[in-house]
Amino acid sequence: MTLRLGDVVPNFTQSSSQGEINFYDWAGDSWVVLFSHPADYTPVCTTELGEVARLKDEFEKRNVKTIALSVDGVESHLGWIKDIEEVGSVSLNYPILADEDKKVSDLYDMIHPNSLNNLTVRTVFIIDPHKKLRLSLTYPASTGRNFSEILRVIDSLQLTDNHSVATPVNWQDGQDCVIVPSISDDVAKEKFPKGFNPVKPYLRMTPQPNK
Ligand code: BEZ
Repeated sequence: MTLRLGDVVPNFTQSSSQGEINFYDWAGDSWVVLFSHPADYTPVCTTELGEVARLKDEFEKRNVKTIALSVDGVESHLGWIKDIEEVGSVSLNYPILADEDKKVSDLYDMIHPNSLNNLTVRTVFIIDPHKKLRLSLTYPASTGRNFSEILRVIDSLQLTDNHSVATPVNWQDGQDCVIVPSISDDVAKEKFPKGFNPVKPYLRMTPQPNK
């Protein structure tokens, strides 16, 4: 199944390192980062899963739950978690789905056979509390992802939802934002008391509203 931005993602029930998970129930009212990796006991994956555990406070601050997935089984996950914790000096504080029957991988199109046969590639889905897909990324097996970038995108999405601003190229938290085009100048004057700079009629910069 091809998932496109804005689609409601499908629900599933699957085994995990923390017991059986019904995805919608588990997600509740949180944002979710669902990310797949090719296999347990592989080097790049070991570093990635440790980093996501280390970023727990950053995800929690943003009301985000994280959940990993590979097509290995629960016993394999439980053994590998010990390595992740040892190597990353961290406790693995989120579940890893054990998608041995490829139910979720197929549903979310995480297997790209011309890149990596029968294993999941490195996909990331950011899903909002309404279960809508807000970002999807696909990385090759040999490239570890940058989870600071995932946090940056979540900040951007939440700014848009809560404050009607978009974020410009290379934006970082605390920098000026862009007023979304659907807001008129008159409304912008009321909505953004710190003011805005009309660089062009269609490019209006304003200080980050929640700072
Ligand atoms: C890794 O996690 O290191 C890896 C997995 C599959 C292919 C290449 C690298």
